[in-house]
Amino acid sequence: MKVFTTIAELRQQLDSDRNAGKTIGLVPTMGALHNGHLQLVKTSVANNDVTVVSIFVNPTQFNDKNDLRLYPRTLDKDCELLESVGCDYAFAPSVEEIYPTEDTRVFDLGPVAEVMEGKYRPGHFNGVAQIVSKLFDIASPDNAYFGEKDFQQIAVIRAMAAQLGYTFNIVAVPIVREADGLALSSRNTRLTESQRRNAPKIAETLFKSRTFAANHSVKETIDNVVATLNAVPEMRVEYYEIIDGNTLQPIADWNDSDYIVGCITVYNGEVRLIDNIAYRRPQP
Ligand code: PAJ
Repeated sequence: MKVFTTIAELRQQLDSDRNAGKTIGLVPTMGALHNGHLQLVKTSVANNDVTVVSIFVNPTQFNDKNDLRLYPRTLDKDCELLESVGCDYAFAPSVEEIYPTEDTRVFDLGPVAEVMEGKYRPGHFNGVAQIVSKLFDIASPDNAYFGEKDFQQIAVIRAMAAQLGYTFNIVAVPIVREADGLALSSRNTRLTESQRRNAPKIAETLFKSRTFAANHSVKETIDNVVATLNAVPEMRVEYYEIIDGNTLQPIADWNDSDYIVGCITVYNGEVRLIDNIAYRRPQP
């Protein structure tokens, strides 16, 4: 696997691959890689001639400076893992390489960016759009891969891509979970032993809520999930919203949509965890 730190060198490599008729898969990450990320990489490797994985802790998407400071950085280990799943190129630029001058672009990402994370992490999605649009321009991929764990992020990136006129495929990969149900996240390593023991309650509560939903209203289901998790020591639900999976707007009734997803954010101690489940998916 080749490791690139400059835009110019990566571009040159990808141009030559493209000229040789090769397809390019792009997997943007912030490193501290785990099996969730690797599932995206494996999907890309299986479906493209070359795969490039970016590793860049993007400062413009962190509205909490402490979260940025504490974000795990494990480049050597990340490169080993990428190599083991057949990744061709890692792109690990410095902050100066990506942002030689301040990125002042403000994206109009529409209603999908205004709810949930958009409300609780002001500026976050604008930062995501800044970095992902740069990565799209640098790599010009045929396919770009994102995880459904960050359900709203995919919708926002699709909105950004539509606005900027990108026509390549944005591929959504299902959530990878630990055996106990906890959605894999780089932030899980920051949990204390007792917080880690309790963390699977999040997924367990979401899964159980599917049964509960069968004979309760949307509001009752939300209240039940929130009350169950708030009763777990050290846990505090920031929001639980049940939304239309396309528009991301809250639904009031189970009949309001044929694509229904519940999105949750929970503080487990100091660590902010997110997860989601589908209550209903459109029939293909
Ligand atoms: P990061 O949190 O490193 O995640 C990189 C990609 O891996 C995202 O698309 C995320 O949804 C996916 N991912 C993380 N955990 C997953 C899991 N358990 N199952 C499936 N996919 C998972 O998301 C970001 O970085 C950044 O916002 C980024 C898009 C790279 C822009 O900076």
